[in-house]
Amino acid sequence: MPSNKPIGIFDSGIGGLTIAHSISQLLPNEELIFFGDTAHLPYGNKSARAVKHYADKIVELLLKRSCKIIVIACNTASSVAFNDLNKKYGDQSIIINVINPVVQYALDAIQSRSIGIIGTKRTISSRAYPKKIKELNPTTLVSSMATPLLAQMIEEGFYNNNISKAIIHDYLSRKTLQDIDSLILGCTHYPLIKDEINDYYKGIVHVLDSTDIVAMEVKNTLGKYDMRNESGKVVEHNFYVSDFTSSFQETTKIFFKEQVPLKEFPIWDFDQATFD
Ligand code: DGL
Repeated sequence: MPSNKPIGIFDSGIGGLTIAHSISQLLPNEELIFFGDTAHLPYGNKSARAVKHYADKIVELLLKRSCKIIVIACNTASSVAFNDLNKKYGDQSIIINVINPVVQYALDAIQSRSIGIIGTKRTISSRAYPKKIKELNPTTLVSSMATPLLAQMIEEGFYNNNISKAIIHDYLSRKTLQDIDSLILGCTHYPLIKDEINDYYKGIVHVLDSTDIVAMEVKNTLGKYDMRNESGKVVEHNFYVSDFTSSFQETTKIFFKEQVPLKEFPIWDFDQATFD
């Protein structure tokens, strides 16, 4: 049945607005509720246990707003928390992660034989990408490498300049990532340096970010379950963070391509939480 319930999207911070932006472009009739856990950012250096705990609390919150789909826009949270969240909440909402759709795309659309992955330390150490790739195609070669400086660099505004170029060059020229035919950008922030990475590879390697692929997955899922918003009403999005600062507010414009108003939903309210 068509549904005008919102789509929930969450991330460790505001980098996940890259995914929210793609979804808003592809599905302009859908209401979005975005939650960035800025109080606990970055997830990439935290233990799996901590990330699972935060993700669980956020999904509980989004379910209080009856989200019909919940997108784990954060690669780190997708890597360590998806299975548990899906098991626990999968009967209440459809949970989508940012890993499976892009892996499927690399194997089906690109027919990749040797895939490289870059992401945070936690994403890479979880081995979530290699596991998924090997599950779908055991003969595909996989190499993955943590590139922890990149997210920090982008948040501080260092992209499309000589410093970002040097850091990207240093990481991508390392031995681990040689002989790949595709590179998966396994972090919310990396779409912002996709052009620079493409410049580095000069067309020899397919560079895949998950933004449009995940937005398409959301669209297909809504279609499959006949859950599109067909009310015809103008939708309004809401963007929450667990810790508000003006610098987060300012940074929204690099990830959402325009500045969006952040509302604070403090982390200490998580347990008594309702949104309004
Ligand atoms: N959102 C995180 C990810 O995609 C990057 C930032 C962080 O470490 O929290 O993995």
